[in-house]
Amino acid sequence: MDKVEQRAKDLLAKMTLAEKIGQTVQYGRCEEREHKLVAEGKIGSLLNVHGPKKINELQRLAVEETRLGIPLLIGDDVIHGFRTIFPIPLGEAASWDLEGMEKNARIAAEEAAAEGIRWTFAPMVDITRDPRWGRIAESTGEDVYLSSLAAAAKVRGFQSPNEDGYPTVAACVKHFAGYGWIEGGRDYDTTDMSERTLRETVLPPFEHGIRAGALSVMSAFSELNGVPASGSRYLLRDILKREWGFDGMVVSDWESIEELIYHGYAEDRKDSALKGLNAGVDMDMQSGVYLDHLEALIQDNPELLELLDDAVLRILQVKIRLGLFENPYVSEEAEDSLKGQAIPASHLAQARDSARKSIVLLQNNSGILPLDTGKHQKLALIGPLADDRHNSMGCWAWKGRDEDVVTVWDAFQSEIAPKAEVFFEPGSGILEELDDGVERAVKLAGQCDVAVVVVGESEAMTGEHYNVTSITLPPCQERLIQELKRQTDTPIVVVLMNGRPLATPWLHEHADAVVEAWHLGTATGLALVDVLTGAYNPSGRLPITIPRATGQIPMYYNRKNTGRPHLYEDYIDCDDDPLYPFGYGLSYTTFEYTDLQLERHQIGRDESAQVSVSITNTGSRVGEETAQLYIRDLVASSTRPVKELKGFRKVWLLPGESCTVHFTLGREELGLLDERLEFTVEPGKFHVWVGPHSEEGLQAELAVV
Ligand code: BGC
Repeated sequence: MDKVEQRAKDLLAKMTLAEKIGQTVQYGRCEEREHKLVAEGKIGSLLNVHGPKKINELQRLAVEETRLGIPLLIGDDVIHGFRTIFPIPLGEAASWDLEGMEKNARIAAEEAAAEGIRWTFAPMVDITRDPRWGRIAESTGEDVYLSSLAAAAKVRGFQSPNEDGYPTVAACVKHFAGYGWIEGGRDYDTTDMSERTLRETVLPPFEHGIRAGALSVMSAFSELNGVPASGSRYLLRDILKREWGFDGMVVSDWESIEELIYHGYAEDRKDSALKGLNAGVDMDMQSGVYLDHLEALIQDNPELLELLDDAVLRILQVKIRLGLFENPYVSEEAEDSLKGQAIPASHLAQARDSARKSIVLLQNNSGILPLDTGKHQKLALIGPLADDRHNSMGCWAWKGRDEDVVTVWDAFQSEIAPKAEVFFEPGSGILEELDDGVERAVKLAGQCDVAVVVVGESEAMTGEHYNVTSITLPPCQERLIQELKRQTDTPIVVVLMNGRPLATPWLHEHADAVVEAWHLGTATGLALVDVLTGAYNPSGRLPITIPRATGQIPMYYNRKNTGRPHLYEDYIDCDDDPLYPFGYGLSYTTFEYTDLQLERHQIGRDESAQVSVSITNTGSRVGEETAQLYIRDLVASSTRPVKELKGFRKVWLLPGESCTVHFTLGREELGLLDERLEFTVEPGKFHVWVGPHSEEGLQAELAVV
């Protein structure tokens, strides 16, 4: 038993039943009633309470007014930044920059902790392949390998040690499990999947987050294969706590224990509390059913006390690990400094770097980008998102402040205006036309050398319960671009700001360049101007496939073959291929892959092989390439995807420069779950590719014997 466990056990031994139950209760608001409950020791955690003064006042009640003085755990949704807003997770994933993700999480944690928040409900590690779902913006995309590494990087960042050596905030990998698999892209809906899909695709990012030390897990709203996740013993006790040995705490999603009633899984509130506790949910977020019913349930059935003790022990351990007993309070100076001062320069610099690395150049047919201010002396900036502070931050940016955001128009004026004339005209609203907006935009574009048109989604079109049936641009914005194209000869650079892949084939055929910018956060304009002018050579790669049409969903690169892969088309009314494949992204330079080498072409089941490839920057600018390694297990005891990402390396190369990148293929990469879902490496042939994205690469063959 380690010291933390011993200390938690000693404390537990002193607790009354009511005190124990109190630790399992969390509320998402703090009004008179909750204040009173805190002072009575009947609340163990709060979320949505802000400001060091308020938080200290509540901590004082918990620490000084209650018999045992157990501090509160204050949580919040610190998803992609706190005061400094970084790109939405889907955008950040496009950077494929794990170190950057870790840094962003660390900064977010530091800013949150300075206000007294010691627990974030992040990272969301739900893999999803349905862009209709608004929460795709919070995900790291479709791929299990990339999402697993991202999960671990973010956990490390959030939990990096503070100056006293404690985790800055506790991370919470969510939503366990299967939430990204909801039917029809409808939030909270049913999920139903095979055990194989669960184990191969959905669970690994959670496991990676937990192996990286995540102190908590959130149970999902959705049901999985007939059992709501927040009532699932199989998920929470059998897999998470027993199989993986997770010793942190599980919190329910918002009222998801009480919602067991609506799922038809619990009879009433009391029954829902019983089912939640039995399943292994340690803390009840917001529904109050543990507070109201655990005492009676335990009186009816004293055996439940063991389960409650286990839940409380886990919660106490998290509080001890965070050093909350040593230091429950936060400096109140932080409130003033955060309010009065600008974002620290180092945080802003990281936000800018992260944002520009997240931008994906999708199309640049005529080489219009980077903008050449020597040639393009008059630049028109058009579009509803070009000067929109709030929406540039994306969903879940509650603590971000509009006034901190540098919009594209701000950055045009500060960075480009010294070299060229810049003009701005929104041309359209996000969802509605503006009176004469299109006419004004057409007139302006007609007088300029290039038009940069910033279109896309508002933050409120993405995130929780903002789902759509059509993943396209709103019609008024599509019309704006169509009219600019129809009525002027001015080259058009389209910048997309969005929280989900948008299926807009027309746009890609007609725009001179297309830049995928997601919602980039505080440094939006600076990052975009860096990319548009070539001060930064774009390096982002898609973490998700962009379909041509909503009807192609689900569309992802690592599908399985059918029995008739070459005989029929998928659809009679739409091409089979995506608009842009997973892993895709252009640069202002070009890269050539040569000399794919396998150190050995045949290996034993426990051995590994080195893979190397040479990459040359064949263009005229310094740039970064993300070399991606994919495999295919050709014949196996369960059918395998046509491609699986198993590694990537990022390299910066000067014009003309070459380098060799190395990968290792071993058990972990080559293994699969066999018929009984046991991990094994089977003998057989593998195709191995290294290339710039999931549809292109040099190919070699490896045999496992
Ligand atoms: C969301 C969670 C979030 C929680 C607390 C829920 O609605 O699903 O992701 O952490 O609210 O705000």
